[in-house]
Amino acid sequence: MTNLATLQSQAITDIESADSLKSLDDVRVALLGKKGKLTEQLKALGQASVEEKKTFGKALNELKEQLQSAIETRQAALERSEIDLRLRTETVDITLPVREEVRGTIHPITQVLEEITAIFADFGFSVAEGPDIETDWHNFTALNIPESHPARQMHDTFYLEAKDEHGNPMVLRTHTSPVQVRTMMTQKPPIRIIAPGCTFRCDSDMTHTPMFHQVEGLVIDKNIHFGNLKGILRQFCEAFFGVADVPMRFRPSFFPFTEPSAEVDIGCKKSKGELVIGQGSDWLEVLGCGMVHPNVLINCGLDPEEWQGFAFGMGVERLAMLKYNIPDLRTFFDSDVRWLKHYGFAALDIPNLARGV
Ligand code: PHE
Repeated sequence: MTNLATLQSQAITDIESADSLKSLDDVRVALLGKKGKLTEQLKALGQASVEEKKTFGKALNELKEQLQSAIETRQAALERSEIDLRLRTETVDITLPVREEVRGTIHPITQVLEEITAIFADFGFSVAEGPDIETDWHNFTALNIPESHPARQMHDTFYLEAKDEHGNPMVLRTHTSPVQVRTMMTQKPPIRIIAPGCTFRCDSDMTHTPMFHQVEGLVIDKNIHFGNLKGILRQFCEAFFGVADVPMRFRPSFFPFTEPSAEVDIGCKKSKGELVIGQGSDWLEVLGCGMVHPNVLINCGLDPEEWQGFAFGMGVERLAMLKYNIPDLRTFFDSDVRWLKHYGFAALDIPNLARGV
């Protein structure tokens, strides 16, 4: 039988001097593999006397455990230093100028959201936000859409498995209008907000995507009337499209949360794969609006005798298509780098009203 002490010290030296995971594994195999030095010793134990088996066997097993744990410790250290090395060699020098071929662009949706925000900020509106996952109450009931109301079917709602505190399924918000409710319940009037964000409907075809963007607007004050609403929307359109005579059409419509209600179309022309604003032979619907329904004010704790207001919700993709001649809605979500290069905006080109949006 070999001198165990020699075997031990040699093995520990080998383990500790292994400088890669591969060479450590070679050491492990040479010691503990099928034909490893220690394995051979354990095999040889078969021929030993009972007394020898007892003492030598115990020592061998202890050595085996000791070597195994030394290997594990060394392995962990080697793994750590491999990661450290990668972190050191794979750093990105963010002070280097961006190479043209990897420079990204601002998506037209982001750009348009920023343009809309800049315009309404100039009108004295602030930005409000709400969650994408809403309660049934905020998305429908508080907005004067009771259960079993046919208007619920107007929205192809994505229902979630999660339930709210009343046991009703949570929904992906079908519009940004629940932010009206959240704002009225937490802020004292007068209120002047816009709420940009994602909205979701179970609908997908040429002109609808399951996720899209809206900007909600809400004004609550005393003596607010439909003329104020029309004025704001026209001023917005003129600033947004940068033309004084945008063809606009207010069509009487129905929303449970506004009365009276209207839908607004922008005159446009589709020709040769481009969508051009003006010379309105075609109309594209871009927003819904109206005077806030008294029931909604009451649901949010406001007295309709004292406060009135208007609200609107605009479709961001539609506005982007009109302004930037983008004929196909679905291309917004294709992540096609060539499309993004063509329609995207320079990162530092932040919209501001003084320069024109
Ligand atoms: N929430 C409506 C929709 O998504 C739009 C709207 C907002 C209409 C505010 C009136 C007032 O269709």
